[in-house]
Amino acid sequence: MPDTAPTTGAQDVHPLLSERWSTRAFDPGHVLDGETAGRLLEAARWSPSASNTQPWRFALALRGTPEHEVLFGTLMGFNTAWAANASALVLVAVERTTPEGKGLRWADLDAGQAVAHLTVQAAAEGLVVHAMGGFEVDAVREAYEVPEGVEPLVVVAVGRQGDLATLDETSRRRELERSRRPLSELVLPLRGAAR
Ligand SMILES: Cc1cc2nc3c(=O)[nH]c(=O)nc-3n(C[C@H](O)[C@H](O)[C@H](O)COP(=O)(O)O)c2cc1C
Repeated sequence: MPDTAPTTGAQDVHPLLSERWSTRAFDPGHVLDGETAGRLLEAARWSPSASNTQPWRFALALRGTPEHEVLFGTLMGFNTAWAANASALVLVAVERTTPEGKGLRWADLDAGQAVAHLTVQAAAEGLVVHAMGGFEVDAVREAYEVPEGVEPLVVVAVGRQGDLATLDETSRRRELERSRRPLSELVLPLRGAAR
């Protein structure tokens, strides 16, 4: 990690988690090999899921391939400015309803865990990840065979950390100003308990 990594205040948790952030500075010279990309998807595939339903679906697009051109073309707004330098994009979709019409109540949680697994595996491989909800869902539906009951959820940019100096001032500041609500705000009190 470069010494420009933001302070997280999360020093007590594992460095794979505390040193992670959603960078917009990817190294344009990095090439993600197929084996490493495969391990990222393996990490996602081995996530836990409710009743082992495994509702996640993936599409990998390595930079420089026709698949990448298609998936990159679905990105929206500012995402198109920085995600071009990422070595790969991974579309993550989620099966919310089975072909038999059964709703999978925890499907989004399961898909989120799969992304978390991919993210931590990437960190362990010296790579960085930035998830994007900003993409055209309909364009993805047009480009991919997305079955009924399956919803495109997120596009994940993967690559190697680049030089933060290549970012514009606003983006650079945003990277360095990571923050979280304090745990005290996140804990649900028992009904009637004194605060
Ligand atoms: C589901 C999801 C969708 C996101 N969509 C976008 C996006 O479209 N564009 C973007 O720049 N960042 C996006 N992010 C990144 C978040 O803004 C980022 O994770 C959050 O600000 C916390 O920062 P950190 O990941 O650096 O800790 C997304 C993150 C998640 C988990």
